[in-house]
Amino acid sequence: MKCRRCRGPAVIDIRRHNAAFCRDCFLRHCREQVKRAIKDHEMIVPGDRVLVAVSGGKDSLALWDLLAELEIEADGLYLGLGIGDYSDESGRHARDFAVARGRRLIEVDLREEYGFDVPVAAAATRRAPCGACGLSKRHLFNDVALREGYDAIATGHNLDDEAAVLLGNVLRWETGYLGRQAPVLPNAPGFVRKIKPLVRLGEREMAAYCVLTGIDYQVDECPMAQGNRHLGLKEVLDALEERSAGAKAAFLFGFYDRGREHFLEEAAAERGDLRPCPECGSPTTSELCAFCTLRDRATGENVPVHLRRAPVGD
Ligand code: AMP
Ligand code: FES
Ligand code: ZN
Repeated sequence: MKCRRCRGPAVIDIRRHNAAFCRDCFLRHCREQVKRAIKDHEMIVPGDRVLVAVSGGKDSLALWDLLAELEIEADGLYLGLGIGDYSDESGRHARDFAVARGRRLIEVDLREEYGFDVPVAAAATRRAPCGACGLSKRHLFNDVALREGYDAIATGHNLDDEAAVLLGNVLRWETGYLGRQAPVLPNAPGFVRKIKPLVRLGEREMAAYCVLTGIDYQVDECPMAQGNRHLGLKEVLDALEERSAGAKAAFLFGFYDRGREHFLEEAAAERGDLRPCPECGSPTTSELCAFCTLRDRATGENVPVHLRRAPVGD
């Protein structure tokens, strides 16, 4: 196997590009894909202050590294979700990376600052933990970025993640979600711009990037997410990709280019009239925003005694 660019010995092949690369040419390929995603979707403009949501996993650490390689100076944000050893380890990876590179890492601990964590919220809502977890992450990414004056919040969602979310939305014809699924969601009053610069790179490429650059990341999957629907959708797409290389990319990029436009009206209609949440100021269509509602439930009486924690301020 020879490198497509320099004809040296290749270390990785990427079937959907019908190409193999040596180490240096592969790293260059990753930088080029991120650069192209940023340019094509106008994710970042010169002078923007960017905050990267860093989980300690391969995607977000690679993203932070790749942005620096492209001379985009971004700070990091780590959320402590309180998922036992998994969160402790994840935080350590994020912190070590920040220290080694001399970067600013903002840390927000759900339990310390809001009086609950993901396991408590899951018990209180009697739903899958990923729902409460995703909701908290979305809220806090936006909240911290706005409060700290960032122009954009970048997440490590990669091609595999986005294709799986798309498949899930299509299978249920979630037209509102389809209208909102994009590599960039522009800023709006109360919302900071959300960007996904890794949409052109797959899961395997991100793992290879970390191994080849010596980035030490959290390898374990979240113990609360085991067997969830998203992982099942990824397996289905992997099986398709195995039979037909490039199927995932064609599905996702075809949607961005020709599908999403058909759902924009639906997404705008669903959004409705927004007003500030009386508790936290986030835009919401309800009396209280979804995050404050979750926090109230998770710190309230309906939490099993063994999981109960002191409410915020106590
Ligand atoms: P996930 O929702 O776990 O698939 O993660 C998607 C993206 O959200 C990651 O690539 C990160 O950018 C971000 N993220 C996930 N967990 C955290 C966390 N605990 N703190 C900060 N960012 C996170
Ligand atoms: Fe959110 Fe596991 S990281 S439920
Ligand atoms: Zn609120």
